Amino acid sequence: MSLLKRGFILCCLVLSPMSIASTPTSAPILIQGAMDIETTTLVNTLKNKSQTTIGAWSFWQGTINDYPVIISRTEVGIANAAAATTLAIERFKPALIINQGTAGGHDPQLQRGDIVIGKISFNMGAYKSEFTEKGKGIAPTKWQNFDVTMRLRDQGKLVEHNNFAADKGLLHIATTMANSYTKGKVVTGVIGTADEWNREVDRINWLHKTYKTSVEEMETSSAALVAHAYKVPFIGIRILSNTDLHNQDFDPQTAVDCQQFVIDYTKKIIMMRN
Ligand code: 5AD
Repeated sequence: MSLLKRGFILCCLVLSPMSIASTPTSAPILIQGAMDIETTTLVNTLKNKSQTTIGAWSFWQGTINDYPVIISRTEVGIANAAAATTLAIERFKPALIINQGTAGGHDPQLQRGDIVIGKISFNMGAYKSEFTEKGKGIAPTKWQNFDVTMRLRDQGKLVEHNNFAADKGLLHIATTMANSYTKGKVVTGVIGTADEWNREVDRINWLHKTYKTSVEEMETSSAALVAHAYKVPFIGIRILSNTDLHNQDFDPQTAVDCQQFVIDYTKKIIMMRN
């Protein structure tokens, strides 16, 4: 065995998470994006493609560097993301899931084009409020985030989640890619998911201060919840396509740049799995 190959294997043992290493090497990598602009670059990169549509959700099976990859167009929002993730896991048994795409900035340090690797994601739109009497008004800043209760079979009980963590190995590999991205910075952070598009700067600042959100978007934590239930390693990677903190409007090119970053990331994962 060549030194290079031996070095590679050693490197994989050190870097790759147990969860990735223990899945069959031929299990596909699932990459998700909500909209056409967030999936077309990925689909065009696949070799030997075929398309499957189940209900409203399309999947493209193919290969990148001879390794099986599935691109999933989840459509927009938390219900769509959960449905598409469930279908993909049941149908294709992926080894790991990368949810990627555009997002709005919450952290004033971040500019359009910067990429956030989600250390955690959470359902930013789940709220409960304390009882107040008729006529006392509406006070969104007093609402509290609602945990998600999951019935996890292996633990034999209900488990509360106020967020979902990225797979540690996938997170590590993503951070090693930071220097190769030239369109902005790559940081780790918190992804807030909700069926919302917030543009009130005071609310954005409040969300950032209260929940430490780096970005907001509409799918990641929902896909993460389903991945967690099935124990499939998961990571969310989001690019700032817009940020009202710096008057930067939605730029569709960012969706392409994010996919390009994810393609390079996927190739690195593939290299480590082979
Ligand atoms: N707020 C919410 N979702 C956003 N998206 C991009 N920017 C934002 C933002 N500021 C993404 C969502 C969804 C689509 C409308 O764009 O994830 O898929």
